[in-house]
Amino acid sequence: MGFGYTAKAFILLVAFASTLAHTKAKTIVVGGSAGWTYGFNYTKWAHDNCPFYFKDTLVFKYDPPTNTTPPHAHSVYLLPNLWSWIKCDFRRAKMLANTTQGTGDGFGVVLNKWMPYYFACGEGPNHLHCNNGTMKFIAWPFWRWN
Ligand SMILES: *[C@@H]1O[C@H](CO)[C@@H](O)[C@H](O)[C@H]1NC(C)=O
Ligand SMILES: *[C@@H]1O[C@H](CO)[C@@H](O)[C@H](O)[C@H]1NC(C)=O
Ligand SMILES: *[C@@H]1O[C@H](CO)[C@@H](O)[C@H](O)[C@H]1NC(C)=O
Repeated sequence: MGFGYTAKAFILLVAFASTLAHTKAKTIVVGGSAGWTYGFNYTKWAHDNCPFYFKDTLVFKYDPPTNTTPPHAHSVYLLPNLWSWIKCDFRRAKMLANTTQGTGDGFGVVLNKWMPYYFACGEGPNHLHCNNGTMKFIAWPFWRWN
């Protein structure tokens, strides 16, 4: 009986260790080949591409600002909670990447906290890119078991 218990514990330990061994964080380009751009529905993209896992990296790729008036530009902000995300209220938002940091290989955000990430673009007149309902999404990382 004592042996059975130990054996079971050992099997569980091996099974647990092997799931950890297979843990591999992924790098995911937000929007896929579209990148981070106006008019693309990121809520839909997140829905189609979730779940995201702890330690995965979300990469935001976008063009630098144009010198047109108004400039076409993008950025990446983290809104503090669900309500500010719904309302596109940037008063307590934290800028993660400015308008030039998404160029080239893009700007990577490692999902290394156990929390919902309320992402949004901070650009456009009156935060249009967020207010339009398209350049915003929520990522809540899961623990990766396999
Ligand atoms: C947001 O903007 C895009 C691109 O101009 C447009 O196709 C879409 O209809 C707009 N959506 C809303 C909800 O305003
Ligand atoms: C964005 O941030 C980078 C790195 O800190 C900086 O070099 C660049 O000047 C900033 N660009 C703008 C438009 O603020
Ligand atoms: C984005 O797509 C979702 C799911 O298809 C839809 O419910 C939502 O209304 C769309 N948002 C916008 C702003 O078009």
